[in-house]
Amino acid sequence: MSPPEISENQILDALRPIVDPDFGKNIVELGFVKDIEIDGGRVSFAIELTTPACPIKEEFERDAKHRVGAIEGVKDVAVSMTSQSRPSPGSVESAREDVLPGVLRTIAVASGKGGVGKSTTALNLALALQKAGAKVGVMDCDVYGPSLPLLTGVHERPATQGKKIIPLEGLGLKLMSIGFFTNDDSPVIWRGPMVHGLIQQFLSDVLWGELDYLIVDMPPGTGDAALTLTQNAPLSGAVIVTTANDLSLIDARKGLEMFRKVNIPILGLIENMSFFTPPDLPDRKYYIFGEGGGKQMAQDMDVDFLGEVPIDPRVVEDGDQGRPILLSHPESDTAKAFESLAAQVTRKLARLEGEVLDSAAG
Ligand SMILES: Nc1ncnc2c1ncn2[C@@H]1O[C@H](COP(=O)(O)OP(=O)(O)OP(=O)(O)O)[C@@H](O)[C@H]1O
Ligand SMILES: [Mg+2]
Repeated sequence: MSPPEISENQILDALRPIVDPDFGKNIVELGFVKDIEIDGGRVSFAIELTTPACPIKEEFERDAKHRVGAIEGVKDVAVSMTSQSRPSPGSVESAREDVLPGVLRTIAVASGKGGVGKSTTALNLALALQKAGAKVGVMDCDVYGPSLPLLTGVHERPATQGKKIIPLEGLGLKLMSIGFFTNDDSPVIWRGPMVHGLIQQFLSDVLWGELDYLIVDMPPGTGDAALTLTQNAPLSGAVIVTTANDLSLIDARKGLEMFRKVNIPILGLIENMSFFTPPDLPDRKYYIFGEGGGKQMAQDMDVDFLGEVPIDPRVVEDGDQGRPILLSHPESDTAKAFESLAAQVTRKLARLEGEVLDSAAG
């Protein structure tokens, strides 16, 4: 007797219990299951997620394999995990086709004050997204203190193609920094119109290619450079970095207002350099600048708190040699905090994109 034929419906039914927590719907209903092929007892299909950096990708894959494998007559299951290209919702006013072509989502990393770890957070967030499977670029727009060259160890002057600029590559990321165009020995005094022009050029003339995420290291505060970016870049969301000793609500509020005015979602606030754990006392947390400030501030500003990043001297030592902590000590709590940030940001953006889709459909 020949074995019973397996139907597409049986496969869909087996996959229906798998729910995407970000959308609150199952993967069949969401249309994520694609390309089902049945060849005797061999079944293959694709699960197409909204982002390659989906933090529960592996869980989906395992679960799907297990459930379909349990169908009577199935001998072999091949699941391919893919992701669809969906444009960044961005801010409505600033969505223009000639701005950042090929870039699906743009995340601004901002702070009220300098020196809180904005650049460190931007780069490690980028690396964590890349580690999760995404194509990522970093655009350092800090006109006053571009630090991407130092933090990545990449220093060349980018090549051009006509009037377009080709980003540099390093640490598996595409990189662009104002620092690639300046000379260490001669600090540039930027005037408003120059800053505006340069940032405009960064937004329209860099050949990023296809990117899932572009991380923007924002200029500090709410000056000309920051305004040019928020008003002209299709930012999908912003992450605010603070430290426990920089709990100036006034500055943070100003920053928040700047994003809110142009409808850029605030993904949340992260507190950097929160506490120190001595290597020989791994269970201790010394809150050198006080505990709970960031969380409180997030609450006061009505934004999500995205976590505490511990102080780790290796951030400075390795960072200044082009070895971000996520690569040099991926097992450290500091690296893990940046990975958790990346997972939260990914899910929040997926949820926002889901809302945009829902409102477009309904
Ligand atoms: N979690 C951390 N543990 C230890 N040192 C850190 C941590 N985060 C950042 N640093 C260090 O703090 C300094 C400031 O960090 P960073 O340059 O990222 O801040 P920034 O906000 O971009 O500053 P700027 O305003 O100068 O651009 C750097 O020397 C960096 O190595
Ligand atoms: Mg910086």
